[in-house]
Amino acid sequence: MSIQDQLKLAVARAALEHVRPWFGSNAAIGIGTGSTADLFIDELAAHRDSIAATVASSERSAHRLRGHGIRVVDLNDVEDIPVYVDGADEVDASLAMIKGGGGALTREKIVAAVARTFVCIADASKKVDVLGRFPLPVEIIPMARNFLVRELSRLGGKPRVREGYLTDNGNQILDVHGLMITDPRGLEQQIGQIPGVVTVGLFAARGADVLLLGSPAGVQELRRK
Ligand code: 5RP
Repeated sequence: MSIQDQLKLAVARAALEHVRPWFGSNAAIGIGTGSTADLFIDELAAHRDSIAATVASSERSAHRLRGHGIRVVDLNDVEDIPVYVDGADEVDASLAMIKGGGGALTREKIVAAVARTFVCIADASKKVDVLGRFPLPVEIIPMARNFLVRELSRLGGKPRVREGYLTDNGNQILDVHGLMITDPRGLEQQIGQIPGVVTVGLFAARGADVLLLGSPAGVQELRRK
């Protein structure tokens, strides 16, 4: 296992302590998407009998959860998600994030909006001073593609279509390279308002509440101020 994977595993294990209070209750736990979230799902497997239900942010995660015998329910069937655990592509000091490298940004944003607490699990390579080195994913309605390429270029980015990829919602993704995001909330709002944009992969208005950051020195817990 690479060092980075060991760090991902360490934060996945640390996240268990944030869901443990709901073991044995009726609560539904929110589950993210990606390689770090996969490790968290694998850690949850040992506790499957204590977990009433989960809400998954992607078909991929739902499939993995079910493979472990963990119950997955539709978001429409729950009113409350006390805690949501997910990874990030980048996270800054205010716990704003870029997400969507795995293409699940829309469902992730929906589950995050419902969740009372968002626990972000990430290895130290994800922590940045300024968001934007990781290309910003934007889920779009396909008929708006060329219009949105022009609009996002006007904001200073270089949008590239994620070739051969459709989201769980049947949409395309533009990965916007070359942005230096000094105002994540402002840019999230600005891009989100362009017709044809389904979801922008900036999670600033609803960032993480807790960041579990894995480094060779251990897992550091940071909270949103
Ligand atoms: C998926 C995501 C993931 O959380 C993000 O891409 C991080 O993935 P990984 O844990 O594999 O680095 O937003 O849409």
